[in-house]
Amino acid sequence: MTIHTPIGTRSRGLPPWAIGLTVFVFLVGGVYLASNLAGENPAFAIPGASAPVASGGVEADPAVGEALVAQTQPQCSSCHGADFTGQASFPSLLGVADGPVSENLQDLGAEYPDEWIALWIDGTTPETEGLDRGGMPAFGDQLSPEQIDAIVAFLKSL
Ligand code: HEC
Repeated sequence: MTIHTPIGTRSRGLPPWAIGLTVFVFLVGGVYLASNLAGENPAFAIPGASAPVASGGVEADPAVGEALVAQTQPQCSSCHGADFTGQASFPSLLGVADGPVSENLQDLGAEYPDEWIALWIDGTTPETEGLDRGGMPAFGDQLSPEQIDAIVAFLKSL
C-alpha cells in the first residue's frame, strides 16, 4: 500500500543552505576566472611577459629567452653578432653550454659550472663583482632572474 504524502508537507525548492552553497561556488569560480583574465594567475600568464613573477621551479623556456634576447637594450646581437657567432672582440655564444670562452670568465665558470652564464648576464650580484665586463652591460637591472634563466636556456639550445 502506498502512503501518499500530503502535498502541503512536501518541501518546496532547495533548502536555503543549498542555495547559499551554490551562490558561494559561483562567486569563487567568478573571482578565479576574473583573476585569470587579469593575468594574475602565473599558470595562465604569458611567461616572462609580465612583471617578474616567482616561477617556482617552472622549466625555463628557450622560446621566451629568444624573444627576450631581441628585446634587451642594447641587444645581445649588436655585440655578439646576428647569429651569436661573435664578431671582433666579442665572443661567440654558441658554445656556452660547455663553459666560458673568455679567459676572463674561466674562474667564474669553474666555481659556478651551472650558474655562471646567468650570473654573468645579470652582472649585479657579488659573484661577478670586480670582473672586467669588457663593455658588456649588466642586465640584472632590466631582466628578472626567471627571464635570465630563459635566455640561458635559449643560448644552450643554439
Ligand atoms: C656592448 C656589447 C655587449 C652586449 C650588448 C652584450 N654582450 Fe655579452 N659579452 C660582451 C663581451 C665584451 C664579452 C666578453 C667579456 C670578457 O671576456 O671579459 C661578453 C661575454 C658574454 C658571455 C660569455 C661568453 C664566453 O663564453 O665567455 C655571454 C654568455 C654573454 N656575453 C651573453 C650576452 C647576452 C645574453 C647578451 C644580451 C642580453 C649580451 N651578452 C650582450 C659584450 C656584450
